[in-house]
Amino acid sequence: MAAVVTVRLERAGDIAAIDDVIVRSFGREGEARLVAQLRRDGDATISLVATAGDAVIGHVLLSPMSAPFQALGLAPLSVIPEHQKQGVGTALMNAAVAQAREGGWSAIFVLGDPVYYGRFGFRADLATGFSSPYAGPHFMVLPLTDVLPVASGKVSYAAAFS
Ligand SMILES: CC(C)(COP(=O)(O)OP(=O)(O)OC[C@H]1O[C@@H](n2cnc3c(N)ncnc32)[C@H](O)[C@@H]1OP(=O)(O)O)[C@@H](O)C(=O)NCCC(=O)NCCS
Repeated sequence: MAAVVTVRLERAGDIAAIDDVIVRSFGREGEARLVAQLRRDGDATISLVATAGDAVIGHVLLSPMSAPFQALGLAPLSVIPEHQKQGVGTALMNAAVAQAREGGWSAIFVLGDPVYYGRFGFRADLATGFSSPYAGPHFMVLPLTDVLPVASGKVSYAAAFS
């Protein structure tokens, strides 16, 4: 039986465990370094962990973007290999979207797999009006209001991404 999974805000004591989750899920260090830099820059706006018992098994981070409206960029999302395909990523995504909505943000951008993120309402067609180095079929947006405040413009991720 799958363990009971809880999603909560990151705490100071979680940092090392989150690093470990990110490195293990991506199989490399780059995304963990990105998260460390986002924290140093004060850009870890929404950082959530998924836990099973005392163990951190997943993590998601959203950082502010420069955009024509209040937008967050979602990256990275990670679940340790042993707990993948059990709905942990889905639980993190649903909690992240709820937090962003509560925080009054207008939209979330993501660069990723259209099939995976499409499940949560992210749309590549709505992102085509926004110019970004990441523009293309994997660049998607999830409006958190009925319609996006504007349909086009320039968007860029937080400084740590460059
Ligand atoms: C992507 C990731 C976070 C998904 O986490 P997860 O806990 O396995 O996700 P879920 O269990 O909620 O998956 C839901 C569904 O998405 C599917 N899925 C998982 N990863 C997928 C991917 N990369 N592309 C398409 N579908 C994917 C699963 O098969 C599952 O489908 P099902 O419900 O029909 O069985 C996890 O696989 C991971 O950490 N991968 C490595 C890091 C990464 O690539 N992160 C995303 C880019 S930022």
